Parts: sequence; structure tokens; C-alpha cells
Amino acid sequence: MKLVWSIVSALLFLQISSGNRLCKIWSSAGLYVQWNSTFKVYCTFLNECSPSMYSGDSPRPQSHRVHNSTTIYLDVKNLMEERATFSCDCDETSVNTDNKLDSCGLDISAGYPPDVPTNMSCTYKVGLSMKGRMICSWNSGRKTYLRNSSTLRVKTFTHNASEGSQQFTVSERGSASFVVDRSVHIVSFWVRVSNRLGSAESPVINYNLSDIMMPDPPDLDEVGCTSRNCTISITQTVPTLHLAVYYKEEDGERWTLHPDSVMSNGLFLVESLQPFRRYQFRARSRFRTGLWSSWSRNVSRWTQEEAPAVALDVWYAIDHSEKSMRVFWKQLDPLFAQGKILKYIITVSKQNSTQTSNVSFSKRNHSVAFCPNCEVTVSACNSKGRSPPARITVHTTLDMPPLEPEVNSQNVTLYWRKRGTAALPLDTVVEWYPRGQRLDELRWVRTGPNSRRVVITDMKPFTCYEGAVYVIYSNKSMGRHVFTGVNTLVSVPTKGPVVQEMEEGSTVNVTWSELPERESGGCITKYTIYLESSSGTVTAYNASASQRFWVLRGLTPAVYSVWMTASTAKGEGRKGDKVKFYIRPDSQVPLIITLGTVIILGGVVLFCAWQISAVKERFWVYFQFCRPEEIPDPANSKWARDCLLEKGKVTLQVQLSTSTASEEEELVLVDVLELPRPLLCPQSSLNSDSEPSTPLYPHTAYIKSLSHDSYSSGDTQTSSLDTNETVDYISSHETTAMSEEEDLEDVSGFFPSHSFAMDPVNFGPKLTLDAVRIDGNEFFLQCD
Ligand SMILES: *[C@@H]1O[C@H](CO)[C@@H](O)[C@H](O)[C@H]1NC(C)=O
Ligand SMILES: *[C@@H]1O[C@H](CO)[C@@H](O)[C@H](O)[C@H]1NC(C)=O
Ligand SMILES: *[C@@H]1O[C@H](CO)[C@@H](O)[C@H](O)[C@H]1NC(C)=O
Ligand SMILES: *[C@@H]1O[C@H](CO)[C@@H](O)[C@H](O)[C@H]1NC(C)=O
Ligand SMILES: *[C@@H]1O[C@H](CO)[C@@H](O)[C@H](O)[C@H]1NC(C)=O
Ligand SMILES: *[C@@H]1O[C@H](CO)[C@@H](O)[C@H](O)[C@H]1NC(C)=O
Ligand SMILES: *[C@@H]1O[C@H](CO)[C@@H](O)[C@H](O)[C@H]1NC(C)=O
Ligand SMILES: *[C@@H]1O[C@H](CO)[C@@H](O)[C@H](O)[C@H]1NC(C)=O
Ligand SMILES: *[C@@H]1O[C@H](CO)[C@@H](O)[C@H](O)[C@H]1NC(C)=O
Repeated sequence: MKLVWSIVSALLFLQISSGNRLCKIWSSAGLYVQWNSTFKVYCTFLNECSPSMYSGDSPRPQSHRVHNSTTIYLDVKNLMEERATFSCDCDETSVNTDNKLDSCGLDISAGYPPDVPTNMSCTYKVGLSMKGRMICSWNSGRKTYLRNSSTLRVKTFTHNASEGSQQFTVSERGSASFVVDRSVHIVSFWVRVSNRLGSAESPVINYNLSDIMMPDPPDLDEVGCTSRNCTISITQTVPTLHLAVYYKEEDGERWTLHPDSVMSNGLFLVESLQPFRRYQFRARSRFRTGLWSSWSRNVSRWTQEEAPAVALDVWYAIDHSEKSMRVFWKQLDPLFAQGKILKYIITVSKQNSTQTSNVSFSKRNHSVAFCPNCEVTVSACNSKGRSPPARITVHTTLDMPPLEPEVNSQNVTLYWRKRGTAALPLDTVVEWYPRGQRLDELRWVRTGPNSRRVVITDMKPFTCYEGAVYVIYSNKSMGRHVFTGVNTLVSVPTKGPVVQEMEEGSTVNVTWSELPERESGGCITKYTIYLESSSGTVTAYNASASQRFWVLRGLTPAVYSVWMTASTAKGEGRKGDKVKFYIRPDSQVPLIITLGTVIILGGVVLFCAWQISAVKERFWVYFQFCRPEEIPDPANSKWARDCLLEKGKVTLQVQLSTSTASEEEELVLVDVLELPRPLLCPQSSLNSDSEPSTPLYPHTAYIKSLSHDSYSSGDTQTSSLDTNETVDYISSHETTAMSEEEDLEDVSGFFPSHSFAMDPVNFGPKLTLDAVRIDGNEFFLQCD
């Protein structure tokens, strides 16, 4: 683009010289100006016109000033462009466009004169040939924006003082290379740079070629390694006196110079390396004098493995039942592993037998059967062998005072005291683990025999930790200081415990399990159980952090909700899910109904029996005082019905008094067999006149404590129950029982209750109760 005006102006120049120009343009500072200079651009018009001035690649009008009648000018201030374009023209209106002459224009370049070249340096690269190549470079200074021409002038001096001089035009990059004969002793050279704004010349630099001689870099061909030495085969184009081999670990920072070593047959031995590392090597060389060659390429190699150098750090935990022991170990530091660990070997030696287990390299613990006198060892294996065995000695544990750890937001500091004992402390082991996860997340550290303090920095926040400090003594004992309930950062629990409830009458057992680690937010300080009754009242109960159940007693029948929260030092957590349960009304209610039925039924049976005159007579013998003055129709009178109920009670009372051992006992346990009323009553009334001759039949209920003697004719009775004669049995029994009161015991023995219960009886609907509570007081007659 900038060239546009150059071309245009070249053409214009031809036109100006031919006199066809409108104007003549020039600058007060010439075509090349210093960067940031201020100058004027003039235009002199040959003909009269209304002049204007433009600048820029796509010309923009500028506000010019008038110098005299034919000349205008523009002030250009602080020009900071590599190339600026100016032009002048006549306004078109004042000129006949057909005959319009060409306008005039000008390109001005801004830049700097060249700096003096600095930092001149040369090397003389020597190969096998008799000529070496001299490579010189220098720093050309700041950018000039203008075209520079640089010239390198060289003078060479040989031993016999013959002189030669050469001159090279060099590129602008600040370097040049040229061939110099090996006979040359001294070279002197300097650089001259020039452009349109000026020129500069470097000082003359003299070089003694032997000082800048440089061999080609050595070539690293083969590297072979054992575990600690590597042998490198090196080739060089020209033999040199010095060869320096450097090495570093692949991901290391600094190269290490291997101390001078014998190079024999092109083999260089690098010693004292570490096993199982990847090393990088590089080399450079130097003649007796001169400069170091540039670096060879880098070559990498692994050294071979060696058996692990040190024993593992092991620890153990014996389970509660003392049946098994969990052995833990830490991964070996790669520095000591000296190879890729392939497996761990665990041996358990009893008196004369040794059991060996191979454990995968990924495992960090292993369970072995616990025996107090066994020797357990753990060693790590790589391809070259195994580490010295780490022995596990089981110590007698003595409980020492628990510790109060000092906790801040990140770290936990434990302090413990020295025990006054004759035994020497051998070591101290501090272990810690999230509560209840000793087997899965145990961490431990050995702090040495005389330590009194440890700072644990890796406890997870929002997690409850516990652990212990074990001081191991020379007499195979070990003092244990436990600590528990430690958390660095705490939040409130994010969930409530899941409640499980179990009703048992009016008592409810509430059980829950521990919150998972990620929900607890830290150490739980307590649990709160909330019980909401159907009326909406909420009762809270606090349970300690170690508790896992709560018993709610004496609940009245209703629907309840129960839920729980857990609390940490930060406060109470979220509510757990609500669990609803229902306390049923007391189970005595159906009993009362049963009892009522029994009494009514007994009454009905007695009423039926009342129809039999013998019974009636016997009754009046006993209850004369109840007899009314006149009896028109006792069976149908209201009084009789009232008394009937009382009679049933009396009968029962009689039976009670005769059969139970102690009359003071208020509650009597009975087995009750009920017979359906509809079957009995109508039939008994039908046969009220006939006297019974058949065996007696139990009328209502038997008291359990009645004799359980076997009944010989159970089958007969069962079959007879199906017949219509049943009525007779009952009637006759009632009569007999009442008329021969001295035979009551026999009668009861004659009709054991259990024989009925056991026999398959089919006589319509029935109700059988296994156990019923009856309040004996209710059976007593109150006829006052
Ligand atoms: C340009 O020159 C002016 C004085 O003429 C000076 O004040 C200014 O700093 C210079 N700017 C640059 C970039 O050199
Ligand atoms: C105007 O000034 C220019 C430059 O100084 C000069 O060459 C020219 O003769 C002057 N013209 C007149 C009419 O004075
Ligand atoms: C000269 O060269 C040396 C080393 O090559 C370098 O540290 C220094 O910065 C250079 N000086 C200039 C002005 O370029
Ligand atoms: C100087 O030595 C060069 C080569 O070593 C030889 O060609 C030349 O003739 C010698 N000149 C004198 C004056 O000895
Ligand atoms: C390493 O080299 C030294 C010296 O030559 C030698 O004594 C040693 O046995 C070598 N070690 C190995 C592992 O090759
Ligand atoms: C353990 O590994 C070694 C070598 O691979 C093998 O000889 C030995 O039988 C293994 N022992 C067990 C118990 O698997
Ligand atoms: C926790 O321990 C680490 C390492 O010892 C230490 O850098 C850091 O400052 C400690 N933090 C606090 C809060 O003490
Ligand atoms: C013990 O091994 C099991 C399974 O390899 C692992 O899940 C557990 O975290 C280990 N325990 C410890 C304390 O490293
Ligand atoms: C439970 O504990 C909290 C705080 O510790 C206390 O305010 C509350 O009264 C306790 N509730 C019961 C029922 O003891």
C-alpha cells in the first residue's frame, strides 16, 4: 500500500519534469525523518487555484496553512509511522475537469539510525577438515524501521604474520558465518551498519582462534543400565580432551555432572545411580582450550530393580473376640521400594510350622488367625527379592488415662505423659480412624520412643474420629491412651436417625442405628426422640450418644408419631422420618364382653334348670329368705327373672369355693367352654318334667383347677352330644349336682374340662378361650 505513492510519485515526477503537474510538494525534513519528528510539508502551485492538502493511504483532507500566494504548508507533528503519505490538489470547482493536471504527492519514511552493534561473539567450529567455520553474532540494538545494510569486516593473522582481510555483507539478523583456515591464529573483525538516517560501527574484536575453538557435540548411542551403573557409548567426530556427562532423573530439575571418569573404547560409566529410576543423560565435549560444544541429544534409561531396602511400617489390630488379628502396613517409599512391588508376603510362625500368604500389591492389610505366641512378619516383594521382614510383636496392653486432644479447625494435637516405669520406651504409635471404622480407615504414625506430642493434620472435616496413643515398652507391654469424639470441623447432622419402633402393649421400644459418616457432620453429642400424640402434644426425650434404644412406657391408647434428631456440638440436625404407631385399647375389654356372655349364658342355663322342680326345691332350701309370699307363676314372673341372674352367680360361686384351693385369691384362671344357648334352652324347657338318668353333662364352665383325671367314656359322651338326649344329660346333671352336694367333687372329676377341649366335638357354633381372667368378687350374691 505504502508503495502506491512511490509508484504514483515516480510517474508524477515524470509528469512534473514534463511540466504537466499542478503542484510541487516537498518536506522541510526530507524523505527520511527520525521517528517522532516534527516538520512541514509544502506545496507550491504552478497555476492559480484553490488548493487543498491530504494525508494518509486513503487521503483525508488536512487543514493547511498559507505560506505565500503560491505555496501552502502542513505542520506534521511527532510522526510515528514507518511511512506517511501526503498530497496536494486544486479544488475541482475552480478547474476545468477535462484539462485537469495531475496532483502531487510524497511518501515520507520515519525511523532510527542504526545502533552500535554490541555483544559481538564468535565461535570457531572445528571438524575433521583443515578449515573450520567461524560463526559470529551480535546484537543490533533497537529496530530502525528502515532498511539497514551491514558489513562484516574480517582480518586474519597467521603464525607467520601474513595478513588477510575479507569483507562480507551480512543479513540483518545479527549473525554471520564464514570459513577460516586452521592455519589462522588470530581473527579480528568489526561490523558496520548503515541506513538513510546514519551509520554505526562496532569496535574491533580480536579473537585468538584457540580460545573460541569448539568441537561438534558428542553423540550418545547406547545406554545400558544395571541397578546402580549405566554404561553409555559415545562417538565424537574429533577426539577431545574433555567429555562431560550430565544426568538427572527424568522429572528432576537439575542436571548433575558426573565426575570425570574413564572413557574406554568409547564407553562411559555412570556410577552411583539409584535403582529403578528413569534417568536422562546428555554430554558435551571440549578441546584442551576453547569452548564447550553444544549439548548432545538427551537419552533416557531405567536402572534395574533391587530388592526393597527397608522393612515395612506395620501395625495391627486384634478383633474383639481375639480370634483374628488384622495386620496393616504402609506402602514403601519408592526410594526404598527400589522396584515395582508385586506382592506382600505374610508369614505366621507357630512353634515349628510356618504359614505363608501372598497378598496382592494393592492391599494394605490382611487378617490372620490370632495366636498370642505366633510370630507374624510382613515383607514386600519386587522382581528382585523381598524386603527385610517387619515383625509384629503383640504387646500386653495397659490402659492409661484417656487423652484430651487439642483441636483447631485443621489439626488435632495430642499430648501424653511419660509413664513412671522401669521399662524403656521403645516406640510410640499414634492411631486414629473415623469412629467405628478402625479396620477400614486406620491411620497411624510412629513418633519415636521419647515423643510426648503429635499433630494430626489429615483428619477429614465433619467426621468424628477416635484413636489411641500406644507407648511400647521393652518389657513387651504397651500403654494405651485412648481418645474419642474428636472432630476438626463440625456441622449439624444432615439427616435424622431412622427410627424403628416395636409396640408391646402400652410400651414402645424405639431403636435406631448410628448415622452414616457423611450425614453425621461430626461427633454426635446426643439423640432426641420426639413423641407426638394424636392430640398434637410433642414430648422430647434426650438419649446419650452411645444409646441405640429408648423405651416409651405407659402410653394411652391412641395414634402416635415418633421421630428423632441427632445433635453435634454445632446443634441439632434435621428431623428423621416420622414413624406412626397405634396403641390398641386394653385387651381386657373383649374379656369383659366374654365374661358378660358367660354370665348371661349361665343365667339362661340356670333358668332352664329352674323349670325342673327338683332344682327349684333345692334352691328354696338354700335361699328361703328370698322366697316371696305368693308364687302365681314363678317361671314367668319378673322377680324370677331378676333372681335368675343372681342364682347363676351363686352356682358359680359354689363351684369356685369348692374347687379352688384358696378363697383369698381374687383372680381365678379358668378354661371356659361355651355351649350355644339356642340349642339348650328350648330343649330343656320341653323336657322339664322328665327325670334324668343319663350321665351328667357340664353346663357352662369348668374351672381349670378342677381335677384333670382322665375320663373313661369321652367317646360315648361325644357321640351322645349329637343326639337330642343332650338335654337330658344337662337336666339330670343339674339335678344331681344340686341334690347330692356331697358328691360335688366326684361330679367335677366326672367331667374333666380338657377331655372336651381335646375331642373333636361337632355341635354347632362354639367359642373356646384358652385363658380368661375372672374377678371372683363379682360372683357373690348380694340379695340384701
Ligand atoms: C516525541 O517527542 C516529544 C517531544 O518532541 C516527546 O515529548 C515525546 O516523549 C516523544 N515520544 C516518543 C514516543 O518518543
Ligand atoms: C513562495 O515561497 C516559495 C518558497 O519559499 C518560493 O519558492 C516562492 O518563490 C514564493 N513565491 C512567491 C510568489 O513569493
Ligand atoms: C550480551 O550477551 C549476553 C550473553 O550472551 C547476554 O546476557 C546479554 O544480555 C547480552 N547483552 C545485550 C545488550 O544484548
Ligand atoms: C606463511 O604461512 C602460510 C601457510 O602457513 C604460507 O602459505 C605462507 O607462504 C607463509 N608466508 C611467509 C611469509 O612465510
Ligand atoms: C557399578 O560399578 C562399580 C564400579 O565399577 C562396581 O564396583 C559395581 O559393582 C557396579 N555395580 C553394579 C550394580 O553394576
Ligand atoms: C506365593 O507365591 C510364590 C511365588 O509366586 C509361590 O511359590 C507360593 O506357592 C505362593 N504361596 C501361596 C500360599 O500362594
Ligand atoms: C496444621 O498443620 C499444618 C502442618 O503442620 C500447618 O501448616 C498448619 O498451619 C496447621 N494449621 C493450623 C490451623 O494450626
Ligand atoms: C483394609 O483392606 C480393605 C480391602 O482391601 C480396605 O477396604 C480397607 O480400607 C483397608 N483398611 C485400611 C485401614 O487400609
Ligand atoms: C434435652 O437437652 C436439652 C439441651 O441439652 C435441654 O434443653 C432439654 O430440656 C432436654 N430435654 C429433656 C427432655 O431432658
